[in-house]
Amino acid sequence: MNSRILRLRGEREPGPFLDTLRDIVGPAHVLTDPATTRGYTTDWTGRWAGSAVAVVRPASTAEVSDVTAACFKALVPITAQGGNTGLVGGGIPESGSIVLSTRRLDRVEAVDPIGRTIAAGAGVTVAGADQAASVHGLRFGVDLASKTSATLGGIVATNAGGARMIRNGDTRSQLLGIEAVLADGFVLSRWTSLCKDNVGYDLPGLLTGSEGTLAVITRVLMKLSTPPADAHVFLAGVATIDAALRLYDRVVRSGLTVEAAELMTEDGIDLVCTHTGAKRPFDTHSPVLALFEVSAHRDTEAAVVEILSASEDLIDNAVMDPPPARRLWQLRESHTESIGRESSTPVVKLDVSIPLGSMTSFVRDLESSLAQHHPAVRAILFGHFVDGNIHVNLLDVAKDDVDSLTDGVFSLVADHEGSISAEHGIGRAKNSWVHLGRTPIDVHTMNRIKFALDPRRILNPGVLFPR
Ligand code: MLT
Ligand code: ZN
Repeated sequence: MNSRILRLRGEREPGPFLDTLRDIVGPAHVLTDPATTRGYTTDWTGRWAGSAVAVVRPASTAEVSDVTAACFKALVPITAQGGNTGLVGGGIPESGSIVLSTRRLDRVEAVDPIGRTIAAGAGVTVAGADQAASVHGLRFGVDLASKTSATLGGIVATNAGGARMIRNGDTRSQLLGIEAVLADGFVLSRWTSLCKDNVGYDLPGLLTGSEGTLAVITRVLMKLSTPPADAHVFLAGVATIDAALRLYDRVVRSGLTVEAAELMTEDGIDLVCTHTGAKRPFDTHSPVLALFEVSAHRDTEAAVVEILSASEDLIDNAVMDPPPARRLWQLRESHTESIGRESSTPVVKLDVSIPLGSMTSFVRDLESSLAQHHPAVRAILFGHFVDGNIHVNLLDVAKDDVDSLTDGVFSLVADHEGSISAEHGIGRAKNSWVHLGRTPIDVHTMNRIKFALDPRRILNPGVLFPR
């Protein structure tokens, strides 16, 4: 820890430095009152709480650059933050840092309906980008339950996945150009709408998923997609995960395009119904519920009816809704909030991915390990499932048990050749377990890149790399 950071930590009001920031962004955008900054220094799950010398809210790339250069000079760490919807503590500052909020970089600059791209500030929300695209009959390719708060800078910084990943790919695969402020304040711009542009290192790809540790993202240029003409949503109650996977296989083989495929359990649906007042989808009981959004060139409805009728051996019950099928989608999208309300302690959220062929054995081993070692802990599993992603949510976990429980689940993930982070990133929550997903040379290479781009280690210290 360098002495400047310690000095700022010891001071209640590091005046001259804050005056510099006020000169750059205006006094109204340097927040120091704890009642106001709390919404930036704690995450909404209640698991992560930090503190910051100030929350700084620049309104342009030039202001981000000046703020970053001032921090570089004064050795003050920066935690860049978008909508603060992350789930691994990656946007929560450690003491002595500033939070650099990108929310005021909120301008949709252009939608190109022919090239199918959107150029926007990092603070534009996912819902805002989708709304701008919809004016041209297009769609933003990333869809998240937190879309009204999650920002484009945030989804790029974490390489977010979400419900449309199976159709459009992850955020990285949809990013064409990026503008980002480097640790010393220089502005990197790689901005081209060309799909084919093979000149040197893939710097936008490198910054995607870097979780604020390599640069502060200020603007993005992203692909847009064409919404399917005839999509339908159906929910099927099945007995096992294996049955849900077999149903998916039949859907794909029928020639339907899978727009989204989500897995829930009856326990999860029960919580959602309790906390949101939603109606149970079926009167009968099915341990596993699979939600599919599918499309065809024409008559998707008839194709779905055909598959469901031919799959009576797999399906206990099914219901289909025409788009946007809010009633069915809300059963899935209300999971995070309902689980948070239900748990007596901050939920331990372990977002993992498992090869499809091992999913059943992973869930079986997880459930038996929890029953044996942590009988008081409740697990609610849900996820995007056909990309291997399961969100393991552990409720009622005593604070002292969080690390050992996490360790146990991640060891099982590694045993099943899965990943400890499917789409939420590493943040502060998982930085002690990176070795389970990467070799020592891989981690060493990441450290070298970090050192090359952030030699003073002011960008989001404690995130991705352990302290
Ligand atoms: C989701 O799929 O709903 C998000 O990843 C949020 C979560 O895992 O709770
Ligand atoms: Zn998810």
